[in-house]
Amino acid sequence: MNQDMHAVSIEEILDKSRIDLDLYIQLSKKKFILVAKAGAPTAVDQMHRYVEKNVHYLYVRAEDYLRLIQQTISVAGVVLSQENAPEVMRLNVLQEATEAVLMEIEKLGFNEAALSHARMVSDATLTMISGHSELANLIEKYRSLTSDGGRHAMFVSSLATMIGVAIGWTKPATLEKIALGGLLHDIGKTKLPADILSKSFATMSFDDRAVYQAHCEFGRQIVKAVRGVPDDVALMVYEHHEMADGTGYPRGIKDLVTSPMSRVVILANAYADLVFKDNNKPSPRVAEKAVAELEFVPAHFNKEMLRALRRLLNDNKVQAVG
Ligand SMILES: [Fe+2]
Repeated sequence: MNQDMHAVSIEEILDKSRIDLDLYIQLSKKKFILVAKAGAPTAVDQMHRYVEKNVHYLYVRAEDYLRLIQQTISVAGVVLSQENAPEVMRLNVLQEATEAVLMEIEKLGFNEAALSHARMVSDATLTMISGHSELANLIEKYRSLTSDGGRHAMFVSSLATMIGVAIGWTKPATLEKIALGGLLHDIGKTKLPADILSKSFATMSFDDRAVYQAHCEFGRQIVKAVRGVPDDVALMVYEHHEMADGTGYPRGIKDLVTSPMSRVVILANAYADLVFKDNNKPSPRVAEKAVAELEFVPAHFNKEMLRALRRLLNDNKVQAVG
């Protein structure tokens, strides 16, 4: 990811009648060319032609973008305002940490086109977060609470976005919401007592588990209280431990009742739990074994999502959009 340029979805550009900032199209990793000047009327036909060619994001210079988010802008339906001071340093730290996670996903052998789409979505989402001090503070609190510095949340965010792409979801706002839901899914853990967090789920007593499981409801409350964040995001946080056959928590609801975006985060979270190494899991599964293990209990997951995850790993010919 180029630290000096930020992805902005064409969907977002089309929301305005005039171009706010100089817009560039990406030709290669470091090469961008100017396609629209700030102040010009939005060339709707030109933008639609990009979308027809599966280009869903254009780029703006980081310095211009950060100036703009001091005014008012919305990404993924999250409303930013002048009260939210942009924090460039924090953005760079988050981008670097996310890039490291994306490289881990690449090494696991996942589809490259979907990965590069996830990279753009995560860039746009992190840029938005850096302009929203409440969200940036939440992410920072979660990262400092966990021993892996939020790596798990970033992995879930990126993989969930890739599964969304593999299913064929192309709307940037939808993918950005999924990326944000993935990042925030365990935010409720910031409300749990330290002694609960230090135990593995397998060693928890019945009472411990009841406390632990409350992180879904805590998370929902935390996200709902953040100004301007869409309800879809709070719902993903609330439902990320539900199972398709109704054996999950907190509500024990079945697949058809969970939100489609939640189903993606549920699967990405379960997969991340298998491939990540931590104190409770010193021998994580390799990429292929982890998918096979999830497929072994298909009743737990949405079948369409499970097939998309399998395609992402097996079939590099799958053409992800973008
Ligand atoms: Fe969780």
